[in-house]
Amino acid sequence: MTVDSDKDVAGLMAAGQAVRRAFEKMQRAAKPGVSTAELDAIGAQALAAAGARSAPQHFYEFPGVTCISVNEEAAHGIPGDRVLRLGDMINIDVSAVLDGYVADMGESFVIGPARPEQAKIIQSVRAAVRAALARVRAGRSLNVIGKAVQKVADRAGFNIIANLGSHGVGRSIHEAPSYVPVDNPTERRRLENGMVMTIEPFFTTGPAWVEQQADGWTLCVPKGELVAQYEQTLIVTDRMPVLVTA
Ligand code: CO
Ligand code: CO
Repeated sequence: MTVDSDKDVAGLMAAGQAVRRAFEKMQRAAKPGVSTAELDAIGAQALAAAGARSAPQHFYEFPGVTCISVNEEAAHGIPGDRVLRLGDMINIDVSAVLDGYVADMGESFVIGPARPEQAKIIQSVRAAVRAALARVRAGRSLNVIGKAVQKVADRAGFNIIANLGSHGVGRSIHEAPSYVPVDNPTERRRLENGMVMTIEPFFTTGPAWVEQQADGWTLCVPKGELVAQYEQTLIVTDRMPVLVTA
């Protein structure tokens, strides 16, 4: 969506706060021995308390409230009886609808202390989003995002998953523009004032491609490879973008 009133901005910020709070509660509870279904229940409670509804459930009938992906699972992991262990890398992606506005965020982190390669991929994907955010301005090419993300990935030696897109958001979970955050010199679309969108690269040590699993949802990299995502929802302006999910 494109925001055209203070009401839109306030509505998006409220949705952004709801998903951030749910994420934080889940992250605090993510400890060895806890199942992903138990974490999801905490997220569900937090969203309900804020008056928000799970966006993947609402728009796609996803069989969970939040997406929880562990280790080789990159995205759209279904919460269930998988129990977290020390050293697991986990991604929690929370998106929700509140008063008709949708915000979307996700982060990867490690249960307990991170091994050096886990810490590196997590720091790199966050740095890539920060670098992209610093380039986002109304009127510039959409490719400023992919270019900034690609530079960080190349320097750190990670691949960017090519079949997991970033996207417009705000009224629905996936809106235009849909794009992959890689350097694409043929990109012709431009960032527009008020545009609401996500930046959500996935970095991996493996091939730049995720495969859907038999459950019809979970997207995985090959076992033993690392994958990490970082996602924020933002509003494009003439200056620095407004972070909706900070
Ligand atoms: Co998203
Ligand atoms: Co998301």
